[in-house]
Amino acid sequence: MEQLIEQRTREVDEQRVALAAANGELRALTANLDQIVRQRTRALAESEAQLRQKNAELERQGKLKAEFISIVAHELRTPLTSIVGYLDMLGEDRFGDLTEAMQRPIRSLQRNAHRLRRLADEMLDASRLEAGRVALRRVAVDLGDVVSDAITELGPLAQAKHQTVSAALRPARPIDADHDKVHQIIVNLVSNAIRYTPEGGTISVVVDEAPPEVYPGDWARLRVRDNGVGIPESLRHRIFEPFSDVQPAKHHTSSGPDSAGLGLYIARGLIELHGGLITVDSEENVFTEFTVLLPLCR
Ligand SMILES: Nc1ncnc2c1ncn2[C@@H]1O[C@H](COP(=O)(O)OP(=O)(O)O)[C@@H](O)[C@H]1O
Ligand SMILES: [Mg+2]
Repeated sequence: MEQLIEQRTREVDEQRVALAAANGELRALTANLDQIVRQRTRALAESEAQLRQKNAELERQGKLKAEFISIVAHELRTPLTSIVGYLDMLGEDRFGDLTEAMQRPIRSLQRNAHRLRRLADEMLDASRLEAGRVALRRVAVDLGDVVSDAITELGPLAQAKHQTVSAALRPARPIDADHDKVHQIIVNLVSNAIRYTPEGGTISVVVDEAPPEVYPGDWARLRVRDNGVGIPESLRHRIFEPFSDVQPAKHHTSSGPDSAGLGLYIARGLIELHGGLITVDSEENVFTEFTVLLPLCR
């Protein structure tokens, strides 16, 4: 009996020692784990700070880029204005008759100088939009009138490609918009339609009030449709980005106001500044249709 008690006591003692050892080990592990968690937390905080810093740096670089573009465009514009002015005067024989041999090179100079000035203007517009420095002068504007003006202005371009441009101007209340900006938007959309549609194609412009069951609210709707090269689905999301000249060069068929892929970027910026919306639908080699919503006057 006594022996048995002695043995059990020994066993209990041994177990106590083992338990104490296990306890020690557990404490060490917990401490270790605490340290690991602390280390990881510190690392996370550090990488978050780094990310924040990188973000700020990216933002700064974006601003610098817009500023750079704006400065370059400004610097280009001033001498170009003088070049374009003198070339136009030369072309109008204001400095005496041009010889036969001079006519062609002067015309070519004139065309290219105009092109450069257009590019500088677009770069300025884009950087102003990006910097939030475009203010709208909103009045009641008859969208149909602006469409008619733009189509008349672009008529010669379409005629040069034997294209028909039709307009259906359905009754619509005036829009609350900046007249010149709306003109700029329409000229861009229609000149794109002319540019990306082969000889003999058709372009149609429709103005109406957007059906409220489809577009809740009070919107005028402008649709510009052509039966040209279309825009492949895979490229469609890129066309509103700056410098997005996404079509293969073979589509650059037409004469006329070509630019650097800033037109739709500017158009979208201006439309969104009005609180409006632009969308595109297309099928390759079948059609392209841009739909624009602009707010009606209240
Ligand atoms: N009506 C259209 N049909 C086919 N592609 C178009 C049409 N309008 C625009 N695009 C595509 O969208 C791109 C961006 O248009 P835009 O910003 O006006 O630039 P740009 O006309 O200077 O190329 C064009 O380069 C072209 O690839
Ligand atoms: Mg364009």
